[in-house]
Amino acid sequence: MIKQQDYLGTLSSIRDFTRLCYSKMMQHKVYLGHGQVNPADEARQLVLAALYLPWDTDEAMLDAKLLDVEKKRIVEFMTRRIEGREPLPYIINEAWFMQLPFYVDTRVLVPRSPVSQLIENQFSPFLRPGPVERILDLCTGSGCIGIACAYVFDSAFVDIADISSSALEVAHINIEKHEMQDQMAIIESDLFANVSHKYDLIISNPPYVDRSDLAQMPAEYQHEPALALGSGADGLDICKQILAQANDYLTDDGLLVVEVGNSEIHLMQQYPQVPFTWVDLAEGGNGIFAISAQDLKPHRALFK
Ligand SMILES: C[S@@+](CC[C@H](N)C(=O)[O-])C[C@H]1O[C@@H](n2cnc3c(N)ncnc32)[C@H](O)[C@@H]1O
Repeated sequence: MIKQQDYLGTLSSIRDFTRLCYSKMMQHKVYLGHGQVNPADEARQLVLAALYLPWDTDEAMLDAKLLDVEKKRIVEFMTRRIEGREPLPYIINEAWFMQLPFYVDTRVLVPRSPVSQLIENQFSPFLRPGPVERILDLCTGSGCIGIACAYVFDSAFVDIADISSSALEVAHINIEKHEMQDQMAIIESDLFANVSHKYDLIISNPPYVDRSDLAQMPAEYQHEPALALGSGADGLDICKQILAQANDYLTDDGLLVVEVGNSEIHLMQQYPQVPFTWVDLAEGGNGIFAISAQDLKPHRALFK
């Protein structure tokens, strides 16, 4: 489908290859759901990354002539993205979350949670006023949520936990990349099994895709860890365990924030009596609830 020999001689500049990549992405209907929202931007990002150039490379440089070795690397990236359906962040080993760069590979979900909008606003108005001493990012994957929290709450200590030791290897790389070693700790744990502190804030983006959505996901998602996506028939297996146990790990005035995406509907239908606050996100995204320890406590038995 994409043959190196067809392009090495005829195309010469960065701009030429960006246009080619854009056309091929449109022709083959790649799915965009891992960062960029339009194929022109993704084509530009792919080509520049293949050349080790930054996203904001000067326009004038786009007409620079490429070496054969550079063209080959671009075609290799295009082949992986368009034929292999690999999400671009896995090819370039980088994803952005809350304007921060994270190392990623197939050991972790590509960061994309709209929870970033809440972190930027310090979880206002849901989190009670006053100092925040300790935060838990449960189901941390790459560590993006925990690390972003460590930036925003710079006097808080942040624990990050995940059941996957290979995901935590990636989280470790990111903690070092952001020099957060003194402010963060990694816990390998099946949910709260190895957690022993109390937290002012527990934030989680757990697996939450329900069985029907999982069966229909585009090929790009098959490169992500299965453990990071599905969570039973209604997508709520992990979320219900979090809701059943969270009170044991929250301070009395603590807050639990969980992303459940499209499984929001199942949670609302099954537990109409629980006072979840569904968060309105200015920049889009849905399916995130906040609930205080006090509001959750009387209902926790429902989730056992
Ligand atoms: C949807 S991903 C989220 C990753 C990251 N928080 C983010 O927003 O990009 C869910 C993560 O939950 C982890 N996970 C799945 N089951 C778990 C469990 N029982 N205990 C702890 N972590 C779990 C997976 O390994 C995966 O890294």
